[in-house]
Amino acid sequence: MKTVLLNNDRSLSGRFYQFKVRLFSSLRFHQFIRKVPIIKYLINYEGGRIYDVMAGFVYSQILHSLVELDILQYLKSGGRSLSELSNFTKIEEDKTLTLLRSACALKLIYFKNNSYWLSRMGVQIIAIPGLLEMIRHNQLLYKDLDSPVSILKGKENTYLSNFWPYVKNIKSNLGSKKDNSAQYSKLMQTSQRLVAEETLDTFSLTGFKNILDLGGGTGAFLYEVNRRYPDIERSLFDLPDVINEAEKNKSSNKHFANIRLIAGSFLEDDLPKGFDLISLVRVLYDHQDDTAEKILSCVYKALPNDGKLLITEPMSGGINPSKSSDCYFSFYTMAMTTGKVRSFDEHKAILKKVGFSRVKKHVGSASFITQVITAEK
Ligand SMILES: C[S@@+](CC[C@H](N)C(=O)[O-])C[C@H]1O[C@@H](n2cnc3c(N)ncnc32)[C@H](O)[C@@H]1O
Repeated sequence: MKTVLLNNDRSLSGRFYQFKVRLFSSLRFHQFIRKVPIIKYLINYEGGRIYDVMAGFVYSQILHSLVELDILQYLKSGGRSLSELSNFTKIEEDKTLTLLRSACALKLIYFKNNSYWLSRMGVQIIAIPGLLEMIRHNQLLYKDLDSPVSILKGKENTYLSNFWPYVKNIKSNLGSKKDNSAQYSKLMQTSQRLVAEETLDTFSLTGFKNILDLGGGTGAFLYEVNRRYPDIERSLFDLPDVINEAEKNKSSNKHFANIRLIAGSFLEDDLPKGFDLISLVRVLYDHQDDTAEKILSCVYKALPNDGKLLITEPMSGGINPSKSSDCYFSFYTMAMTTGKVRSFDEHKAILKKVGFSRVKKHVGSASFITQVITAEK
């Protein structure tokens, strides 16, 4: 173990910091404050939070077990006893009981009248579009995070970089070769609804006539655009294999029907022109700064004067980091090996560099789902 020496900062704040470190490192101090009423509660509260940070992986694996065993779905129709749940999961009663108690502790279910029932949180986990798929998909991220330090040190061959084929294609300049786009497109489509709703609640598209969704996947964002703004013309640009998937959606619903589909690569091809708004929905955070800059300067060239750009994706809190973006999405994109979650200021710096002006952050109500920036040519 490394020995860390306190530094020689003699300023008032430096000395206060060293005092705090010495005080809270002292076991005698801890024994003392356990007897002081209000401070005792504060310290216990922080102790509980430390425990949660330490045990977070176990909590999410409990959630994963509930999903994999279909327990939440099974409880949808009503309360079930331990033996019914044990029969359903084909797992011994005492182990089923362990799982059920842990899920009660996490308030995902509760126990009443000798049965287990879904809590409000449990119901929402089933109901939120795309969440069950994300919970299942997380297992891949956790395989990479088995060794987080390797990821921090730049491990290249990760499970997530294999799941997102265009990541590999960028690195090896392979362009858009045949890949598992059907698999990732489905994951994106199911999780898109909340992102689209939050984006369109946060930024109004009133007044726009013609929108291009760049890296738009199978069209879920443009679907929601059409539900709210039926008069806006919509085009979608994505890799050829993804466009093939989007094509299949066309006949499934009228909101998909009139989307103009354009196959290409925003890293290799000229972007189509004639749009007063270009959107990048969960696209930039897949890429490192140099690639993000390249995409943004192509967008700048494609837009008419006064044309607007809409960026919506999870963003870092910068000097006020948030758990969803600065923990979850930052490690997720790092495990992809090409990705990066950016703060508003980091986005703004690249946008200004490629020529955009009037860079604006729009404050929504659920920043853990997505955050919205617009900029003007
Ligand atoms: C994280 S997904 C987001 C999809 C969609 N916008 C959404 O939020 O559901 C990133 C999208 O960018 C597309 N993409 C990646 N590299 C691309 C490239 N070089 N040219 C065009 N699209 C690309 C992917 O195929 C994928 O659909």
